[in-house]
Amino acid sequence: MSSVTKHSNVIVSDAQESDFAEIRRIYAPYVEKTTVSLEDVAPDIEELKARWNKSREKSLPYIVAKIDGNVVGYAYAFPYRLRTGYRFTVEESVYVAEGYKGTGVGHALLDALITICRAKGYKQLVAVIAGTDNNTSIKFHEKLGFRQAGVLQNVGFKFDMWVDTVLMQRDL
Ligand SMILES: CC(C)(COP(=O)(O)OP(=O)(O)OC[C@H]1O[C@@H](n2cnc3c(N)ncnc32)[C@H](O)[C@@H]1OP(=O)(O)O)[C@@H](O)C(=O)NCCC(=O)NCCS
Repeated sequence: MSSVTKHSNVIVSDAQESDFAEIRRIYAPYVEKTTVSLEDVAPDIEELKARWNKSREKSLPYIVAKIDGNVVGYAYAFPYRLRTGYRFTVEESVYVAEGYKGTGVGHALLDALITICRAKGYKQLVAVIAGTDNNTSIKFHEKLGFRQAGVLQNVGFKFDMWVDTVLMQRDL
C-alpha cells in the first residue's frame, strides 16, 4: 500500500459484505504480529462477517473508510456488557491499514462512530486498549475526547507475556 497525506479524500460509510476481504487483510497482521489485538488466530472472512452481523442485529455501527474505493480502515461498536443496566454504554474498536496510519483515517472513523452512537442515544463510549505501551492508541483516543479511566493489570496473555489493558471512556 502506498502512503498518503492527511489531505487524502477519505470516505466513511457503512461496511458492505464485499468489504470483508480487505477488512481481514487489515486486521490479520495486527493479530499475527502484535498485542494490539489479544486474539491469537486471525479470524477468517466468515467469522468477521458473523461479528458484523452481530453488530447489525443490535443496530450498532460497523463502518469502513475508503480512499479511491479501497478499504483503508474500519471501526465498529459493540455492547460493553450484556446486562441490561449497561445498555447506554458501548465499546469500540478501530483499525487502520498499516500503510495509512497517521494520515487521519482513524480520526475520520472514530469521529463518525461517535456521531452515530450519540445519535442512537448511547451515553458512554469505552475503549479497551491492550498494552500500557500502546501510546499511539492512547494519544489517538485522547485526541478524540476520551479520558483514561484505569489500568487492568495482567488481564491479557499473548506471545508468552502478560498484557495490561488501559480503559478509556468518552461521554457522548
Ligand atoms: C490507533 C489508530 C486507530 C489511529 O488511527 P490513525 O489513522 O493512525 O490516526 P490519525 O492519523 O487519525 O491521528 C489522529 C490523532 O491521533 C493521535 N496520533 C495518531 N498517531 C499517533 C502517534 N503515532 N503518536 C502519537 N499520537 C498519535 C494524534 O493526536 C492525531 O492527531 P494529529 O494528527 O492532529 O496530531 C491506528 O494507528 C491503528 O490502527 N493502530 C493499530 C490498531 C490499534 O491500536 N487500534 C486501536 C484498538 S482499541
